[in-house]
This record gives sequence, C-alpha cells and structure tokens, in this order.
Amino acid sequence: MDIFPISLKLQQQPCLIVGGGHIAYRKAVLLAKAGAIIDVIAPEIESALLEIVQSSQGQYVQATFSPDASLRNYRLVIAATNDKATNVQVFDACEAEKILVNSVDDPPHCRFMVPAIIDRSPLVVSIATNGTSPVLSRQIRTQLEAAIPHGMGKLADFSGKWRAAVKARIENPDQRRIFWEDLYASPLKEQVFNDNIAEADRLIEQALIEWKTPKGEVYLVGAGPGDPELLTLKALRLMQQADVIIYDRLVSPAIMELCRRDAEKIYVGKARSNHSVPQEGINALLVEYAAQGKRVCRLKGGDPFIFGRGGEEIQELFAAGVAFQVVPGITAASGCSAYAGIPLTHRDYAQSVRFLTGHLKEGSPELPWNELVYENQTLVLYMGLVGLEKICAQLIAHGQRPDMPVALISKGTTPDQKVVVGTLADIASKVSEYQIQAPTLTIIGEVVKLREQLQWQG
Ligand SMILES: C[S@@+](CC[C@H](N)C(=O)[O-])C[C@H]1O[C@@H](n2cnc3c(N)ncnc32)[C@H](O)[C@@H]1O
Repeated sequence: MDIFPISLKLQQQPCLIVGGGHIAYRKAVLLAKAGAIIDVIAPEIESALLEIVQSSQGQYVQATFSPDASLRNYRLVIAATNDKATNVQVFDACEAEKILVNSVDDPPHCRFMVPAIIDRSPLVVSIATNGTSPVLSRQIRTQLEAAIPHGMGKLADFSGKWRAAVKARIENPDQRRIFWEDLYASPLKEQVFNDNIAEADRLIEQALIEWKTPKGEVYLVGAGPGDPELLTLKALRLMQQADVIIYDRLVSPAIMELCRRDAEKIYVGKARSNHSVPQEGINALLVEYAAQGKRVCRLKGGDPFIFGRGGEEIQELFAAGVAFQVVPGITAASGCSAYAGIPLTHRDYAQSVRFLTGHLKEGSPELPWNELVYENQTLVLYMGLVGLEKICAQLIAHGQRPDMPVALISKGTTPDQKVVVGTLADIASKVSEYQIQAPTLTIIGEVVKLREQLQWQG
C-alpha cells in the first residue's frame, strides 16, 4: 500500500486554495462541505468561488502566489492554478513547512490525493488509486453509489447516538461487534431508513435488555480451488464476519485478502507430509476458540467434504456440542476441469465420473483397479502427483489402454494454472519435463481430448 488513507476533520480549520478558476471552485465546494475556512490566493477569482470563500469566513487575496508566502497557519493547501510551475512552487513551499498539499492532476507533486467520495454523512466512503486512475475511482464510486442505500447515513447517525449506551452494557469489544452486526441484520435497519426512529430506539433498547453473551460457532467453509471469484456469496459473508480464520495451505492469498481484516488468522498448513498443525490439533483449536464465544471460520481449499477431512472436524464439534454451519465450495475437479476446457462428462465420451484420492497408504495405492478401467468413465485423481507413475502402471496392468488421454492441471483456476496433456503411458514422464507442481489434479478419460476444441484459458 503506497498511500495511507485517513479522514481529516477540517471544521473551522484554515485551508488555502491557490487558484481562482473552476478547478479551484470544485475543490472549494468539497472543503466547504467539510466546514473548512477557505482562503484563496489568485490574481482573479470566479464569483461562485468568492461566495464560498466569504461564506466560509475565509479571505480572498488578489495576488499571484509568491514562493515566500508563509503557509504555516494552514492545515492543508491545494494548488489549483492552470500553471504547473506555480503549482510546483506551492508544493515546494508546503513541503518545506510539512503542510499537507495537493497539486491538482499532478500526482508527483501531491502529499495527499483527493479521493472519489460517496457521501452518506456521517458515513463517507472514499476511493483512491494513488493518482493512477481517477476514472477508475469514479467508476467504482458509481457502482458503490448504487449499492449503498441513502439511509446508511441515518443508520450511522443512529449508531453514534447509541454507541456509548451499547459500550456501557457490553464491555467486551468482540461481543459488542457481534451485537451491532446482529442489529444491522435485523428489522431495525429498515426502521431507521424509513425515519421510524422511535421504533428503532425501542428495538435497540429491547436488544440491549435481552443481550446474552453469544455462544461460539464454527463455519466450515469451502474456499474453492483458488480464483477468488469462485467463492460463494455465503462463504464471503462468513469470512467477513468471523473473529478467527483457521486456514489451509490450499487457500490462496487472494482469498485470504477477502477475510475480515482484523480477524485473527491462524495457518494450519497441510502440505502432503508436512502438517504444520496435525489434524487432532486443528480439531482442538476449533473447539477451543468456539468455547471462547468466537465465530470461527475454518477455511478449506475446494469443498470441505471432498477429500477435505471436513467430516472429521464437524464430528469433533458435534461431540463437543459446538454449533456449526457447512458452506460447500467449488471442488478442484469442477474448477480445474472448467478452466482447462475439459467437461467431466459428455454424451459421446463419458457417462460417469469418479473422484479418487491418489494419496498412497504405506507406499502403495489402494484403489479398486478393476472398477476404474471402464471406457466412457472419467477418473479425477486428487493428490495423485506423487503416486502418478504407479497409478498409471496399475491402470494399464488392469486392462486400461496405454493411449487413454490424461491431463494434469496444476494450480488450477489461479493465474499460475498449467495444463499438460498426455496418455497413461507417458504422462508420468511429463511431470518433471514440464515442472508440474502441487497442487495438481489429474483427469483420465476420453473427455481430455475435448480440450483441443474447448480450451479457453492457459
Ligand atoms: C487434500 S485435497 C483437498 C481437495 C479439496 N477439498 C477440494 O474439494 O478441491 C488436495 C488436492 O486437491 C487438488 N487441488 C486442490 N486445489 C487445486 C488446484 N487449484 N489445482 C489443482 N489441484 C487442486 C490437488 O489434487 C490436491 O492434491
């Protein structure tokens, strides 16, 4: 992050705009909304700008800017002339005095940028691109304008009015957050939006009287195979409301970025043979945090019930009497096959699909080989990279054609996705040739051939 967003309180604070034209006027409108006292230095001034200056109790100084002018009294300065050299002089003068300065449309000469704003005062949303693309900021603002109801400002006002009372009744900050979140999800919000403040007051009073320390809960959430856009809406909502996130190696950094920023995040690893926290330890952690009344998001790659040990985790929760919810995710088979252009079933090539684990027990794959050698069946092998050579050999030994097509999909659905196609006879030799890395999914079957036609990603 190259910039640090803050919200300035400028009521009755002296601010200076250098420039008297329309650009200066637009900045003055914003400063006036924030209650600043606005001075302007410019040889000429638009009448609308002069009006703002006067009604803010500021002064108009009819002059060109002098680099020797003392700016020490100003909280912030905006250089808004149409002469770049003058704007640079203003910038230099402010830097010398360590005063916040913005040169309009000249990011290198800005100590602060003016973001695009959605004003639902007292709720204000600002969008900044560090001066790289004001158009993009405005586009995002347009989208958010539609998504943030106008009543949100009233809700913020209402919350401000009750903040101290809630704090007095619920001392624990985590529990207080849950109280507010529950309240915003309740009918109270609509009452405030519709200006039924007396009813809203009644509802919050009642909620405070009825408040009980919340019981902890665990959300077992499938995060999908990697692309954050493959998350479900429910997964996203729970990731953003959890107090603790306990996550695996397969959960991509882009997905972790979407979790609640101030949630405690605990990595429990799980590379093939390197379990940074063993399964029993993970189960115990879930129970322990829930017992503290926390909302715990157990975030897993793909779907928690497909080779994800999700069942074991919730059995443990059930035994400990901890409440839980399960949110399915897009499993690697669905995500990787879609992004590789390989339909898992197809009228002409496969009428069934089987998900298998290639994770070897004591070095030898325990798979029902005879059931796997049918034509018109797609096999999807999870965790099959290490045992791939043996698995291919066993399939051939049990009667499968050596030229049966096979695809390896590494890091599927992520920007690093790599797909390598071969046959049962030669695919194992391609692993090192193409430097295929985990996680990799293996698809075996005639459907693999369809990739030639249907490939739409790398
Ligand atoms: C322990 S299993 C977890 C599966 C997960 N629960 C799911 O539903 O996708 C891990 C295996 O899933 C497969 N896998 C998961 N994500 C993948 C991805 N993005 N690309 C390729 N394979 C993936 C790999 O075969 C990996 O070895």
